[in-house]
Amino acid sequence: MQTPVLQDTMAAVAAVDLTKVYGSGDTAVRALDGVTVGFARAQFTAIMGPSGSGKSTLMHCLAGLDTATSGQALLGGTDLTKQSDKVLTKVRRERIGFVFQAFNLLPQLTAAQNITLPLELAGRKPDHHLYAHLTETLGIVSRLDHRPGELSGGQQQRVALARALVSRPEVVFADEPTGNLDSRSGAEVLLFLRNSVRELGQTIVMVTHDPGAAAYADRVVLLADGRVAGEIDRPDTASVTDALQGLAAAR
Ligand SMILES: Nc1ncnc2c1ncn2[C@@H]1O[C@H](COP(=O)(O)OP(=O)(O)OP(=O)(O)O)[C@@H](O)[C@H]1O
Ligand SMILES: [Mg+2]
Repeated sequence: MQTPVLQDTMAAVAAVDLTKVYGSGDTAVRALDGVTVGFARAQFTAIMGPSGSGKSTLMHCLAGLDTATSGQALLGGTDLTKQSDKVLTKVRRERIGFVFQAFNLLPQLTAAQNITLPLELAGRKPDHHLYAHLTETLGIVSRLDHRPGELSGGQQQRVALARALVSRPEVVFADEPTGNLDSRSGAEVLLFLRNSVRELGQTIVMVTHDPGAAAYADRVVLLADGRVAGEIDRPDTASVTDALQGLAAAR
């Protein structure tokens, strides 16, 4: 089945009628219920919606971290739902960057080693210019020899951002990247993400609960009960807050 989203060459990532059912029988949960949505290249998109609406599930299926029940999860021309585990591991390593709420750095490695590990696993050498640009922009040059346990939360998340971007991935998926940060560190992370889209042409998809964080994005996609429930172009805090209240009222 050809759909507009498939033909949209601007989309770096797309879900086509994507469905994910956890469990079976009486206890089955339809976490995604026919989601069709595209994420444009060099755009910063926020995914929002109530707890349990399927935000993380959508991101995990699009990142090859979870397998969909039906539909397509497209990264460039690749349908991730058709790939073997071996290919998915390679795709995650070479074509996707991840930032998580809990940073997910390896505690025994230094910041520098954490940043370059995914590239090394992929048998690639870091681009020194980009590595220098990222670590300087993120203000972590003097922290590169430290282990995560010696860094603040904000610093750890900035290391995780450098790790996600240094491979020039086709897309960066960020699941509540500011969820564990104070407002100032959170704002720094969001500014960095937005500037990466503007200056490096990075494609970013971020899940957040915070309307203020979503206002840094170019576009907001709203999910409710595993379905796309709307979207906002050029969001600001007020328009996002209104849309979320509308979703809550409709339940
Ligand atoms: N591994 C799993 N097994 C069973 N059910 C799951 C699993 N993961 C998620 N679910 C269910 O799928 C639905 C969507 O979950 P998901 O984690 O995608 O929501 P979310 O929008 O990210 O929520 P939150 O904002 O709380 O992070 C929920 O009802 C959840 O309970
Ligand atoms: Mg979630």
